[in-house]
Amino acid sequence: MIELVSVFSVLILGLDLVNTQLILDPCQVTDFDDIQQAVSNCQKIILKDVVIPEKTSLEMRLLTGTELIFEGNITHVPAEWAGDLLRIYGSNLTISGAPGHVFDGLGAKHWKGKNETVVMRPKLLRFKVSDSTIKNLHLLNCPDQCIHISSSSNVHVSDIFIDVRDGYQGVAPTDHFATNTDGIDVSGSDRIFVQDIVVYNQDDCVAINGGHDLYFRNFFCNGSHGLSLSVSGGEVYNIEFKDSIVQKARFAIHVKTHNEGTEGHIYNVFYKNITFSDVFKAGISIQQNYPQGDVRGNVPITNLTLVDVQGSVLAETVPISVLCAEDACSDWSWTNVRVTGTDFSNECLNVPDGIDC
Ligand SMILES: *[C@@H]1O[C@H](CO)[C@@H](O)[C@H](O)[C@H]1NC(C)=O
Ligand SMILES: *[C@@H]1O[C@H](CO)[C@@H](O)[C@H](O)[C@H]1NC(C)=O
Ligand SMILES: *[C@@H]1O[C@H](CO)[C@@H](O)[C@H](O)[C@H]1NC(C)=O
Ligand SMILES: *[C@@H]1O[C@H](CO)[C@@H](O)[C@H](O)[C@H]1NC(C)=O
Ligand SMILES: *[C@@H]1O[C@H](CO)[C@@H](O)[C@H](O)[C@H]1NC(C)=O
Ligand SMILES: *[C@@H]1O[C@H](CO)[C@@H](O)[C@H](O)[C@H]1NC(C)=O
Repeated sequence: MIELVSVFSVLILGLDLVNTQLILDPCQVTDFDDIQQAVSNCQKIILKDVVIPEKTSLEMRLLTGTELIFEGNITHVPAEWAGDLLRIYGSNLTISGAPGHVFDGLGAKHWKGKNETVVMRPKLLRFKVSDSTIKNLHLLNCPDQCIHISSSSNVHVSDIFIDVRDGYQGVAPTDHFATNTDGIDVSGSDRIFVQDIVVYNQDDCVAINGGHDLYFRNFFCNGSHGLSLSVSGGEVYNIEFKDSIVQKARFAIHVKTHNEGTEGHIYNVFYKNITFSDVFKAGISIQQNYPQGDVRGNVPITNLTLVDVQGSVLAETVPISVLCAEDACSDWSWTNVRVTGTDFSNECLNVPDGIDC
């Protein structure tokens, strides 16, 4: 195939014809309008320098076993709307980016600082996949959340670089800094293995909203709201975060249950070898009153293990905050947990037996 392409290219270039790529390989696509044709016919697809039209979601329902490769600059025409810029469905897929590629979300055209709640912004990449591999992706300046894995099963994710440094307060123009740029969100999924990830952003580095058997390893997070569970109902269990660094974050570890949510249960959660620095809201926060108000035990938190969790917070910061409803937190084990850098006291409400707070 490759040889054929080059022979034809030479011929066609010689004849000075246009668009050799289109004529020769319908599985290599640049024009947005040609994508669905490739999606229905090809098992190896290269998307290069694609521009997604405004207020449009690029939905790809790939054939089983497809290899999808992104090249060049995958971007969009910015507009105020809510939705996913790219949605990928399928099973037995291999999804990756070629060297030098980027998903440019053009965040600066969307960010409105504190006014974010009234502004509609698209999310960048959503996966609904099974038995698949996602690797080597570079996301730049997500307008809103960066990657969302939902309704997925048995997925290996690795080597992802999420760079929203342009959205930091002090870097972005006043009133135009970024918010809600979650790195990787997971909901309704199981057996998701995520490792070797770098995230510079302005909201959760990882946020688990639902699912079970979810494993996160070797994260470097700068500027985030930490390694989080944010659960408003449902069973969420067998969760592991290991070998990760969290810098300049609002929290390093944050487990929050929504007091206005439904019933649920969080259990078997394991944080191991987490190092953090310059945290400014609370080093470790476990709260059953998210977003605010009274604690409620609608989602009990059972068997929460922390091992080798160490780091520093800024001077006027709560080191550890545990706000549980009565009898709603139990069977926790914390070993070698240390937060330094402040004289502030811990906040402790209905802390399980055996936990130093
Ligand atoms: C998955 O894809 C690979 C490569 O495309 C193929 O060899 C294999 O048979 C597929 N497996 C299933 C279960 O479809
Ligand atoms: C990607 O393309 C858009 C639209 O042409 C452009 O504004 C942006 O600067 C490009 N991004 C990169 C990283 O080259
Ligand atoms: C934020 O909202 C206020 C009040 O509606 C408005 O005056 C201001 O221009 C807005 N800022 C931005 C960046 O949109
Ligand atoms: C982390 O982000 C801050 C901005 O909040 C920046 O000053 C610092 O250099 C970053 N650290 C690294 C290692 O990139
Ligand atoms: C702890 O995590 C760091 C990465 O943050 C890694 O370099 C180190 O090897 C890990 N330690 C152990 C004992 O696995
Ligand atoms: C507690 O959770 C850990 C994983 O974090 C698991 O290995 C262990 O079996 C659980 N303990 C109980 C009693 O379920």
